[in-house]
Amino acid sequence: MRGIMFFVSLLCCLLMVTVSAAEVRNVDLLVSSCAACHGTNGHSVGGTPKLAGLSELHFIEQMKEFTSGERPSTVMFHHASGYTSDEIVLMAEFFSKQNN
Ligand code: HEC
Repeated sequence: MRGIMFFVSLLCCLLMVTVSAAEVRNVDLLVSSCAACHGTNGHSVGGTPKLAGLSELHFIEQMKEFTSGERPSTVMFHHASGYTSDEIVLMAEFFSKQNN
């Protein structure tokens, strides 16, 4: 019986590690498509707004407003509308953790 419990908890651990590793890879992939305009990890050069260090809430709000058209944009409407809210939250976490 104890053997089974040990095996089950080991399986749970493995599962959690796999999921978080997949998320990390996923967020890297997601943010890499922003780098062309917003710089590596959100450190923009030139006129594009910096994403590094933005608060998660501000980031999520802007992405929602771009998608709904509430905030007029030149290009961000197209970029913001292609993501699920989970992906937006992942990116918000990522950019808020970058030093600005
Ligand atoms: C083609 C260039 C381009 C790409 C690619 C791009 N952006 Fe933008 N982004 C802009 C521009 C330009 C603005 C300023 C608003 C506008 O004119 O659309 C902006 C504004 C923003 C803002 C608002 C910042 C603020 O402080 O108000 C956020 C958030 C943002 N982008 C997130 C992203 C994310 C996340 C991605 C990748 C999924 C991305 N952008 C990809 C050009 C781009």
